[in-house]
Amino acid sequence: MIVTVTLNAALDVTYQVDRVDWNGVNRVRAVHRRAGGKGVNVARVLAALGHDVLVTGLAGGPTGQAVTADLTAAGLPHALTSIAGDSRTTLAVTGEDTTLFNEPGPEVTGEELARFADAYDGLLADADAVVISGSLPRGVPDDFYATLAARAGEHGVPAIVDADGEPLRHAPAGRPAIIKPNLDELTRAFPARTPLESAAELMREAGAGAVVVSMGADGLLAVTGEGRWRARMPYRVEGNPTGAGDALVAGLALGVVAGTPWPERLALAAALGAAAVARPVAGEIDHQTFLTVQRDIDVS
Ligand SMILES: Nc1ncnc2c1ncn2[C@@H]1O[C@H](COP(=O)(O)OP(=O)(O)OP(=O)(O)O)[C@@H](O)[C@H]1O
Ligand SMILES: [Mg+2]
Repeated sequence: MIVTVTLNAALDVTYQVDRVDWNGVNRVRAVHRRAGGKGVNVARVLAALGHDVLVTGLAGGPTGQAVTADLTAAGLPHALTSIAGDSRTTLAVTGEDTTLFNEPGPEVTGEELARFADAYDGLLADADAVVISGSLPRGVPDDFYATLAARAGEHGVPAIVDADGEPLRHAPAGRPAIIKPNLDELTRAFPARTPLESAAELMREAGAGAVVVSMGADGLLAVTGEGRWRARMPYRVEGNPTGAGDALVAGLALGVVAGTPWPERLALAAALGAAAVARPVAGEIDHQTFLTVQRDIDVS
């Protein structure tokens, strides 16, 4: 079983409109509501590939109930810790363009976080890997992902962290198996003009087992204990890039659990990222794109 952690689980709402009149009344053509947050997207991809998953994290209030109801309806196993605050909604208004409104998320208390940590510890005995991703809700310390990764490590469970900002900077201290920033996230975590490979190597020296830097249609760079690789995509996939990183992370988790050699692991993971771009919603993959890209990708 792969456990995914989504501390800032969300209800992703999409309004489809013809166009937006900011000073008038807008007719919404269609509304879609579904459970979101990066760990939920990772779990959707893993489940689609037939792997056992468990969605964990925090959810509360009416929005949290809608999130858990949607996970149940989607057949995704979940064990979210309940909190008093209302989980956040992210709103995408899609017409000629897409405009996003992301709520900040609830304030989490120390007691709620301790309850989550206890539940998480209890799951580690049955976990093959944990995936820790996304933003932190208010009230959660910046080093919490490092703490979760360290606890997993104590149980011999590899952790994969996909974070930004301070949680990313702290992540290596928890000695996760893999940290997966994208290029912007890694660049922001280091002083200006730090070369990419040096930044990744510094994260390894600070404790990360491997650093996989995703670069959109330019593929990825992996700096690992067994060597460095670049994966180059055979072509640019057109579509919705949101969630490509989550599909990549799902592939890395599968590779860690199976013990796949790095070049194959990276080819599979990067192809899953590309396959996610070909689908309009995050958390889904296009199987034909996956097969084509995995066959033609260059990892060296
Ligand atoms: N347009 C594209 N064409 C082909 N492959 C892509 C494309 N965009 C992304 N990929 C693949 O998906 C991987 C992850 O994409 P990206 O670097 O955009 O992740 P990200 O910025 O973390 O995304 P998100 O956080 O929205 O999920 C890339 O390393 C690459 O292998
Ligand atoms: Mg990302």
